[in-house]
Order: sequence, then C-alpha cells, then structure tokens
Amino acid sequence: MSDAHWHILGAGAIGCLFAARLQQAGAGVTLLLREPASDEAVELLLEQGEQQQRLQLPASNCLAQSPISHLLVCTKAYDVAAAVDSVAHRLNPDSQVLLLANGMGFDQPLVQNYPWMQLYYGTTTEGAYRLAPRHIRHAGRGQTRLGRPGQEKPAPWFASWPRALQHCHWEADMEQALWAKLAINCAINPLTAIHQCRNGELEHNPQLAAQVSALCAEIAAVCTAAGYTGLATGLQREVQSVIRSTANNQSSMLQDVQNARPTEIDYITGHLLAVAARHGIATPRNSTLFTGVKALGT
Ligand SMILES: NC(=O)c1ccc[n+]([C@@H]2O[C@H](COP(=O)([O-])OP(=O)(O)OC[C@H]3O[C@@H](n4cnc5c(N)ncnc54)[C@H](OP(=O)(O)O)[C@@H]3O)[C@@H](O)[C@H]2O)c1
Repeated sequence: MSDAHWHILGAGAIGCLFAARLQQAGAGVTLLLREPASDEAVELLLEQGEQQQRLQLPASNCLAQSPISHLLVCTKAYDVAAAVDSVAHRLNPDSQVLLLANGMGFDQPLVQNYPWMQLYYGTTTEGAYRLAPRHIRHAGRGQTRLGRPGQEKPAPWFASWPRALQHCHWEADMEQALWAKLAINCAINPLTAIHQCRNGELEHNPQLAAQVSALCAEIAAVCTAAGYTGLATGLQREVQSVIRSTANNQSSMLQDVQNARPTEIDYITGHLLAVAARHGIATPRNSTLFTGVKALGT
C-alpha cells in the first residue's frame, strides 16, 4: 500500500517538524495555510543540533476545495475545533483525522458536529519551537504515540510514521495513554506556570514537592473514577520520574505564560475538573491551580 498523503493543519513548531519528517520518510505532505495563498510550496528551515536543513513543503489554502484523505491537526488545543471547521468541507466519512494537540476534551465539538468523522489521537514528547514563522528548531527527541480508542491494531496509514519519527508507537489503549499524559501534565504544568519555575524545582523545593504529592492524590482519585486504576496507583512515582528526567525543562504552560500566549489549561486541568465534577470527586487543589493559571491572564 502506498503512503498516505497528509495535509497538516497548524503549521507551527510541531506541525512543521512532523511535516518535514513525514516528507523525509517518503510520505506526501501539504501544509494547510490560513493566509490566502494559492497552491505553492513554502521553504522550511529546520535546525537540529548544529545541522540546518532547507526543505520545500507543498502548501495550500484551507479554503481550497480538493478532498483531504488524511488530516494531521497540530494546532493548540483551543484552536482545534475552529481549525477543523475551516477544512470540514474537504473532509468526508473516509477521511482520517489525527489530532495531536495536548490535553483532552478539545475533540468534543468535532464529535458533536461531525459524528461521521474518523478521529485518531496522538501524544508526543518531541520538542520543537519556532524561531520565526517557517524556521523551526527540533530541540529534543521524544516518543510519539498514536491510536484510536477501541482500535488495538495500527491503522493502515501508520506504516510511514515509525520511518518518520525515531520513537513512534501505535497505542492499543489510546484513551489510557491520553489520560496518563493528562495526569502528569496536571501535576506539573500549572504549578510551574504559577511559580515560574523549571520542572526540577518541584522536587527540590519541599513546599512544592508536598503540593505535587497532594495534587497526585486528587488526580489519582479522578483516574480511578475514570476507570484507570493502574494509572492511579503508579501516578506519584511516574510524576516524580518525569520531574527528575525533565528537571531543566520549562513546561509548555510556563513558556506560554512567559510569552503572554493563551495556555491549554482548559484542556488539561480543566478537563480533569470536568471529569471530577461528573463523578462527584472533590479536587480543591486542582481547582485552585486552575483559577491561579486563569488569573495569570492567559
Ligand atoms: N512544540 C512542542 O515541542 C510540543 C511538544 C508536545 C506537544 N505539543 C503540542 O502540540 C500542539 C501544537 O504546539 P506547537 O508548539 O506546534 O504550537 P504552535 O507553534 O503555536 O503552532 C500552532 C499552529 O497552528 C496554527 N493555527 C491555529 N489555528 C489555525 C487555523 N484555524 N488554521 C490554520 N492554522 C492554525 C497557528 O498559526 P498562527 O501562529 O498563525 O496562529 C500555528 O502555526 C499543542 O497542543 C502543544 O501543546 C507541542
């Protein structure tokens, strides 16, 4: 079977990185741009370590009419619904739509408005940032997990992904993988954003370490209620391990706050709070952090 052709919606740091890696692996890619450009290629400058590569990536306008068979959505969580709306006229029930934004719950408008849409999900710890609009730095290698709740075996289009990304796996239980990432993000990101600290501070500062433990207890209760007892049991240990291995990192939420950009808190802690409310679980510490991050004006 030939490789799928991916249209990439959200040509930012991760979108351009994945577009470049897919193209280098032999897959067809097209960046979908908001600006009123006719079909053309854009030049991408991709940096990794000391290396710089210039790539030509085909691009087209979201408003074009040609059908899209495989759509990779790499916008921030709060932009997913509007971005997919803008290309919905190009999708059909056979289209495969892969959502890569961080957090959970941003797919709900799509589930409601397009019940026919075949949605897949991804989570990645690859690290990339934009130096300029089409100038991306691949800052760190990570793991990418793709899957679809209820679909144990890889989708036919998956074959090109492990060629494109060094550590890319199909997740037999994607819902659990998304919950695992959400739980860790809830324990780390809001605290680092509010205290303006690197991840490692959450271990070295005793007051923050105690807050992490208390947060984990609340988050674990919600995981259990959502049916993820295994995640709940190992959460504290997993969070500590992530804090240690990313000690020198600034969380994406801290970076968003520092750059006066909106955060994805609604789809991280906000999602946890919504599930907690449905199950009648008290989450006062997570609520306080949610309000605190909102009060930062993002
Ligand atoms: N960067 C990383 O290292 C990393 C790692 C793991 C996970 N993630 C997750 O991946 C997602 C994307 O992150 P990112 O860092 O790549 O963000 P980003 O650099 O801000 O890229 C998002 C892109 O989406 C575009 N966009 C937004 N709405 C659109 C629309 N309606 N139509 C077309 N394009 C639209 C934005 O365009 P404008 O700039 O013009 O608004 C921007 O180019 C986030 O959920 C993030 O948490 C990122």
